[in-house]
Amino acid sequence: PASPATLLVIFGASGDLAQRMLLPSLYGLQQAGLLPDGLRILGTARSELDDAAFRANVADAVRAQVPAADLDDGSLDTLLARIGYQPADSSDGASMERLGARIRELRDGDILYHLSTAPRFYGPICDALGALDLAGPGTRVMLEKPIGHDLASAIAINDGVACVFDEDRVFRVDHYLGKEGVQNLIALRFGNAMFEPLWNSRHIQHVQITVAETVGVEGRGDYYDTSGAMRDMVQNHLLQLLCLTAMEPPSRFEPTAVRNEKIKALRSLRRIGRAEALHETVSGQYTSGAVGGRVVPGYVEELGRTSRTETFVALRAHIDNWRWSGVPFYLRTGKRLPSRATEIHLQFRAVPHSIFDPGARIAPNALTIRLQPEERIELRLMSKTPGLDRTGLQLSQVALDLDMHEEFAAASRRPAYERLYLDALEGNGTLFVRRDETEAAWEWVDAVIDGWRANDIAPKPYPAGTWGPASAVAITERHGHTWRE
Ligand code: BG6
Repeated sequence: PASPATLLVIFGASGDLAQRMLLPSLYGLQQAGLLPDGLRILGTARSELDDAAFRANVADAVRAQVPAADLDDGSLDTLLARIGYQPADSSDGASMERLGARIRELRDGDILYHLSTAPRFYGPICDALGALDLAGPGTRVMLEKPIGHDLASAIAINDGVACVFDEDRVFRVDHYLGKEGVQNLIALRFGNAMFEPLWNSRHIQHVQITVAETVGVEGRGDYYDTSGAMRDMVQNHLLQLLCLTAMEPPSRFEPTAVRNEKIKALRSLRRIGRAEALHETVSGQYTSGAVGGRVVPGYVEELGRTSRTETFVALRAHIDNWRWSGVPFYLRTGKRLPSRATEIHLQFRAVPHSIFDPGARIAPNALTIRLQPEERIELRLMSKTPGLDRTGLQLSQVALDLDMHEEFAAASRRPAYERLYLDALEGNGTLFVRRDETEAAWEWVDAVIDGWRANDIAPKPYPAGTWGPASAVAITERHGHTWRE
C-alpha cells in the first residue's frame, strides 16, 4: 500500500478548475483536519507569480467559494503556510529544470502530481518529470478529464502517461465518483440485503439515468463546441453511473475489485451501430428560451457562430448479460433543461396478476436515487386510499421518501474534490477511473458519434427550459415507457 503523499504538485494551478474547486477543497480538508501532517502544496502554471502572489490568489479563491460566516482564518492561514508556487512551461526545458529543483527541495516522501491542464500537455509534463527523475516509485499522478476526444486520442494520452507512470500510480478523475450521492448508491446496493435480490431483469423493467443541467455553456464554448454532451457527459459521468448501477457485486470495496466489475459492465454494453443510432439515440441543441423564469440565449448565440454540436443526448442502451438481458437503460443529459436533476430511476415490473377491480390502477413500484441537487431516496409503493368506497378497495401510489439532508442534518455537504484529494493523497484508487474503463467508454461513444456522422444526423433544436427535442420522448414511449419528469 502507498504511503500518504507529503507533496502535492498542482499543474494548471491558476486555471478555472483550480480556482473554483481544487483550492477551496484543499481548504475544506484543512479545516476538517484531514490533510496529512507535513503536506506541502506546490502550484505551478505558466503565469509568472511568486509564492506570496499565489497565496493571495488562493485566499481569494477560497473566499469566493466559502461563505464568510464559515471561513476560519486560522485554517486558511495554516493552508497558505503549506503552499508555494513555481512558474513552469512544459515546452521550456529550463523552466521545468527550475520546477524540478523546487520539487526536490520540498520532497520529503511520496509525491502526488495533479494535472489540471489541457490534456495535450499530459504527455509532455510526464516526460519532463521522467527526465528529471521525479516520476519513479513513490510518485503518482492524478489526471483531469477529458482523457481524449475519441478512442485514438485517449490511447495516445494514456500511452504518453504510461511511459512514465505505471497504471497503479495513475488516478483518473471523474468527479461524479467523489460525490456523496454516488457513493451512497454503492452503500445502498451493497449495504442492504433487500435490494440485491430484486436488482435484475426478473424484477426491473427499465432504468433511467438523467443528468439534467439548467446552465448553458457559459464561458466554456470553445472547449464545449469541440466536445458536446456525448463526449462531455455521457462518456464519463453517465457511463460511470450506469456501471455502478449495473455492475455485479464486487467482493470488496477496493480498487481492483470495484473496477473489475465496472469494466465488465462497460464491455457488456451493446454497441449502438449506425442503424441503431437512427432510432435509439436523439441529439439536441438548445435555442433561446426561458429557464427558471429567466430569458436565456440559444447555444449558437452564446457561441457566436453556427454549430452542429449537441447540448442534449437521450439514448436507449442495453447491457448484454444475464442480469440485465432485455432491460433498457435510458440515458439522458442536457444543458438548459427545466431543472437541475441527477437521478437514477429503477422501474419495477408490474404485479403479475391484479386481485382488485379492473378499474383500480396499479402503478409499478419504482426506486429513485436522486443525487442532485438534493440527495434523496424514494420508493414508490401502492397503498389503500383511506376511507370508504362503495366500489371496493381503492389504491393510491405513495412514496417512502428519505431525505439524506434531513436524516444527517448535522453533517455538512462535502464537495467531490475533498473526497478525491483525500483518496489520491492516500493512494486509494477505488473512486478513480482505470485506463481500460476510459477506453471501453470511448469505444462505445465513438460508435454512436460515428452513427450520427454516417447518417448525417444534426442535433434537433429544443427551446431552453424544455426537456430536449420532442423526439427524445419517442425513445421511451415507443417501448411503452415514460421519462420521469
Ligand atoms: C463537467 C462537464 O464534467 O461536469 C460540465 O464538463 C458539466 O459541462 C459538469 O457542467 C457537471 O458537473 P456537476 O458536478 O455540476 O453535476
